Amino acid sequence: MDKMIVQPSGALNGSVKTSGAKNSSLPILFSSLLAEGEHTFHNVPHLKDIESTCELLNLLGAETLREGTTLKVKVKRPERMQADYDVVRKMRASILCLGPLLAQYGEAVVSLPGGCAIGTRPINLHLDAMESLGAQMKVEKGFVLAKAPKLVGSTILFENATVGGTENLMMAASLAEGTTIIENAAKEPEIVDLANYLNKMGAKVSGAGTSIITIEGVEKLKPAEHLIIPDRIEAGTLLIAGAITGGEVRVEDCMPEHIESLIQKMKESGFKITKDKTSVTVHPCQSWQGVDITTAPHPGFATDLQAQYMTLMTQAEGTSVITESIFENRFMHVQELTRLGADITPKTRVAVVRGHKGELQGAPVMATDLRASACLVLAGLVAQGETTVNRIYHLDRGYEKLEDKLTSLGAKIKRAKE
Ligand code: EPU
Repeated sequence: MDKMIVQPSGALNGSVKTSGAKNSSLPILFSSLLAEGEHTFHNVPHLKDIESTCELLNLLGAETLREGTTLKVKVKRPERMQADYDVVRKMRASILCLGPLLAQYGEAVVSLPGGCAIGTRPINLHLDAMESLGAQMKVEKGFVLAKAPKLVGSTILFENATVGGTENLMMAASLAEGTTIIENAAKEPEIVDLANYLNKMGAKVSGAGTSIITIEGVEKLKPAEHLIIPDRIEAGTLLIAGAITGGEVRVEDCMPEHIESLIQKMKESGFKITKDKTSVTVHPCQSWQGVDITTAPHPGFATDLQAQYMTLMTQAEGTSVITESIFENRFMHVQELTRLGADITPKTRVAVVRGHKGELQGAPVMATDLRASACLVLAGLVAQGETTVNRIYHLDRGYEKLEDKLTSLGAKIKRAKE
C-alpha cells in the first residue's frame, strides 16, 4: 500500500492542467453497453475507478483498449449479464451497468454494493426507477435481480435529486418504448455530458442540466465518439492548493462555470480569482476570512469539495460553519485534521471550524475516502513538519497524478510504500 509524504511547501506557483472527469467517464463508459460495436472516448483519466470500470466491462464481454487518454470499448453481447461482488465492492458506481444491461438485453444481475465510508448510500431510487419502467426487481442473496422483456416509458419523480439514479434511468429509458419524464432530476454537468453521449448514439434526451429530463425511447443505438468534460472536482482541489499556500496557480483546461459556487465562496473569503473560458487563476492572498458553506446538489456547493474547503478554512481568520447536506457521514476527515492540530467541532452534519493560520502540525494521518485524502494532502502543504497520509489508494481512485501536478507547482510531496 502506498502512502504520501508531504513537506511544508511554501507558495505553489504556476499552471496546471485538469484531467477528464471521473464522474463523467464512469456513466459514459457504462452507457457503451447500450450499443454493440466500437465506442471511442477521449480525455479519459488514468484512475483506479476507470480500471475497475474496464474490468467490469471486460467481464461483461467488452474489449477495452487504451492509447494515452483515449479509450476504445468494443461491446458485444455478454455471456452473463452479471456484475459480481468482487468488482462492485471496489467501486459503487458499478451499479450504473444496471440500466444499460436491462434496457439492451432484458436482464441484469448486480451485486449490492455494501457499506461506504461517507454514508449508507442506498440504491433504492435506482431500483424504483427501473420498476417504474416495468422491470421486475428482486433482491436475493446480496444481488439485485432485474428482468424486463421490454421497458416502457413512464414519469418518475425522484424524492432526492440522485446523480447515479438519474444516470441509470436516462440510460435505461433511451431504449424503452415511449416517453420517460424524469422530475427532480440531478443537474450536475456529468448528467449533461452523459446525455450528450447518449444523443450522439442516437438517443433522444432533452432537458439535461435542468430538473426535468425527457427521454423519447428509440429502437436501437449505435456506437459513437466523445470527448469527456474536465474534472470540476480536481480543478477545485488544485485551485484550493494554490489558495491555501498563498500562491498564484492557474488551473487550465477546465470549465470555470462548473465550480462557480466554490469560486463565489473563495471570493467572499477574500481571494482574488480571475477566469476565462477554460482556465481559472487564484492570486496570492495572505489572509482570508471564515465563510460558511452548505453542500447542495449542483449548482450548489459540491459535497465532493467540502473536505478540501474545510482544510482551507482551518487557515482562515475567524470561524466558519460547514454543513454537509448530501451524505450523512462525510466528516471522517475532521478527526484526521484535528490530529494535525485543526480546531474543529463536528456535530451531526455540521462542523464548526475555527481558523488559526500556520498552526497545523505535521503528523501521520489516515485517508478514509477519496476527497478526505485530498484534504489531508492540502493540509500537509501548510503544516509545520512532515505529514504522512496513509491509505493513499483512495486518492488513486479519483485523482490522476495529483502528486505530480502539485510537485510541478513547487509542492514537496513524495510517494512511498507503507
Ligand atoms: N440516495 C438514496 N437512494 C438512492 C440513491 C441516492 O437515498 O437510490 C441518496 C444518497 O444516499 C445521497 C443522495 O441521495 O444522500 C445523493 O446521492 P447520489 O445518488 O446523487 O450520489 P451518487 O450518484 O452515488 C455521485 C458521485 C459522488 C458524489 C455524489 C453527489 C459518481 C460516480 N459519484 O454519487 O462522487 O459525491 O454524486 O454529488 O458520480 C466522489 O467522486 O468522491 C463521489 C463520492
